[in-house]
Amino acid sequence: MYKITVIPGDGTGPEVIREGLKVLEAVSKKYNFKYETSIFDYGAERYLKTGKTLEDRDIEELRNYSAIYLGAIGHPDVKPGILETGILLKLRFSLDQYINLRPVRLYNAKFCPLKDKRPEDVDFVVVRENSEGLYKGMGEFKDKGTGDEVAIQISYNTRKGVERCIRYAFEYCRRRNKKRKLTLCGKTNVLTYAWDLWQRTFDEVAKEYPDIATDYAHVDATTMWFVKNPEWFDVIVTDNMFGDIITDLGAMIQGGMGIAAGGNINPEGISMFEPIGGSAPKYTGKNVINPLAAICALGMMLENLGEVKAAEAVENAVIKAVTKKLKSLAAGKMGYSTSAVGDLVVKYLD
Ligand code: IPM
Ligand code: MN
Repeated sequence: MYKITVIPGDGTGPEVIREGLKVLEAVSKKYNFKYETSIFDYGAERYLKTGKTLEDRDIEELRNYSAIYLGAIGHPDVKPGILETGILLKLRFSLDQYINLRPVRLYNAKFCPLKDKRPEDVDFVVVRENSEGLYKGMGEFKDKGTGDEVAIQISYNTRKGVERCIRYAFEYCRRRNKKRKLTLCGKTNVLTYAWDLWQRTFDEVAKEYPDIATDYAHVDATTMWFVKNPEWFDVIVTDNMFGDIITDLGAMIQGGMGIAAGGNINPEGISMFEPIGGSAPKYTGKNVINPLAAICALGMMLENLGEVKAAEAVENAVIKAVTKKLKSLAAGKMGYSTSAVGDLVVKYLD
């Protein structure tokens, strides 16, 4: 019996989560597993009413669950940073979800903005470090508000934090068993402390994985290769900030935010799965947002829970919807409403 925390959150979050839960119900019947969900109202509305984001005792409550399924966090009436750090990043950090796993997979060449790229050319996974780096929030102002102001933001990298991430990436690459190639994406030519540690750790850990080919690319060059030769990549490991940036580009080359999903993973604890697109305020409540990213995130959650067959069924159903029916992956242009896309996925489950 899986106990799943559901946080629909803000904007279009509730609409896409509703479709994900529809698919979960259907797939659980087909593959004979049981689950229960508890819905939590963390998000902008609650914050605007109570001034509360997410408290330590909320986190303690979440520790009783098998996984978290999250819609979106962020609202135009709340100053940027409050909900993101108070809810999303707080969840990632306090549950030590130190991996952000972001598959970049093109399901239908028609939806790729790159010329002449086929599904087999855009098929890689970014392993983003999810607990350190610039996201640690370390820094200070000096002489704030004066002409001599200095703002310092520190990238905090520990040997242990870097090593567990790199090790996860090697293991993942081996398990994935495709090109068996791991690329370190960094900036060793400028960020000579942080990336020296990453490169040294990468080279040391690589010795334990002689079956995995290794490669290095600077982050700026990585964005170029994503556009020019995405087929070169298999698994990429990188830090928190670079991972954030390159996975938005990754989302675009796989067809857009409507299809891009991610998992915040604690391999020894509670993981959280989410569409990576955000709350899309302008589409809220219109039944036009694409729920496939949330449905793909559900698939990742099932795989993580050990329901591998059910996870495959969800992904295959998404592939069918995307290759046979949808006119576009963009909100309002799919040729189907949000709920009709959820129905299509349910129909294609086998
Ligand atoms: C993401 C988002 C978050 C991040 C924001 C909303 C804090 O952009 O999941 O990629 O920067 O990690
Ligand atoms: Mn991001």
